[in-house]
Amino acid sequence: MKLFLDTASIDEIREINRWGVLGGVTTNPSLVAKEADDPARVWKEILSEVEGPISLETTELEIEPMYEQGVDLAQMAPNAVVKVPMTPNGLTVGKRLTDEGIKVNVTLVFSPAQAILAAEIGAYIVSPFLGRLDDVAADGMDALRKICGIYEVQGYETNVLAASLRHPMHVVDAALAGADIATMPYSVFTQLVKHPLTDVGLEKFLQDWKSLQKELRKGA
Ligand code: G3P
Repeated sequence: MKLFLDTASIDEIREINRWGVLGGVTTNPSLVAKEADDPARVWKEILSEVEGPISLETTELEIEPMYEQGVDLAQMAPNAVVKVPMTPNGLTVGKRLTDEGIKVNVTLVFSPAQAILAAEIGAYIVSPFLGRLDDVAADGMDALRKICGIYEVQGYETNVLAASLRHPMHVVDAALAGADIATMPYSVFTQLVKHPLTDVGLEKFLQDWKSLQKELRKGA
């Protein structure tokens, strides 16, 4: 399973990219708005910072404007992936872009039925939102498991991207469910690396190492 950052912050992207595990980035209009900068400048910086797929979201709702915006976004860089919403117009535009060889991410997916539609248009990525389902007392992980199961049985090639992840166990369970990609905010990414026993163990190793150095200096 590839690990993506769900952010438009170049500082967060640069920090995690140094770890050598960053497979790509997902952005959405809310995340870009948080940067309070020219969206094209924000996207360009991200596209050149990370080699993997970078999802850039359309904001037009009608077919022609959404299609034109999608083509513009795709032309920004070879690693650009165009996000379209799970709406009838989003499917129409997504299919058209896909047929033209543009990689499409169908976003705002909340059910296996919607995920089937995304696969049928040949989308590159489908993005089920787990956390937002949990927020309304539904079972986001159950939806993800069903989507992964259907894609396996049907032989769909669309990549399942588990989105709206809120904590490390969402990432672990998404991996177990068979998601191809997990996208998460910076806060969840940095939680993945942490374990109290790692800190305690490292402190003890360093203490013992220092004691050895002290003993060796005494003997010299
Ligand atoms: O970017 C799509 C998705 O990951 C958004 O997550 O945390 O706003 O529900 P969230």
